[in-house]
Amino acid sequence: MTERTLVLIKPDGVARGYVGEILSRIERKGLTLAAMELRTAPTSVAAEHYAEHEGKPFYPGLLEFITSGPLVAAVVEGPRAIAAFRQLAGSTDPVAAAAPGSIRGDLATETQRNLVHGSDSTESADREIGIWFPELG
Ligand code: TYD
Ligand code: MG
Repeated sequence: MTERTLVLIKPDGVARGYVGEILSRIERKGLTLAAMELRTAPTSVAAEHYAEHEGKPFYPGLLEFITSGPLVAAVVEGPRAIAAFRQLAGSTDPVAAAAPGSIRGDLATETQRNLVHGSDSTESADREIGIWFPELG
């Protein structure tokens, strides 16, 4: 079943020059791009995107980081795209949890600066695509 998921290459990924590397992994998996744009997120968009984490200790730093520079927002599609991209990304903590071979496991060391975001469910994907690409809704 074809799905869509919202992917962010976070500001650390753009700053470190990993846009091509990360897009390449997405394409090699067999997923395709339905939309993509480089942009710097305003705090309002970042807050809506990460609304589920409001009130947690890492939330202020997360918003500051995600708005700190340009990021790549993309809609990625394919069979089981949501789970497929989460597998490519690896677990949230790049050292303690993400497996070698994953984007985070191979390329990151810090939980906050973990390179990518991927929607975690069909509900999240619909909600997040609506935030970043309202024209696709
Ligand atoms: P979360 O949705 O739990 O992780 P994921 O990105 O794997 O879906 O958290 C969102 C982001 O918040 C996460 O990518 C990095 C940041 N974060 C921290 O900085 N510290 C933390 O302890 C956690 C859980 C997340
Ligand atoms: Mg999440």
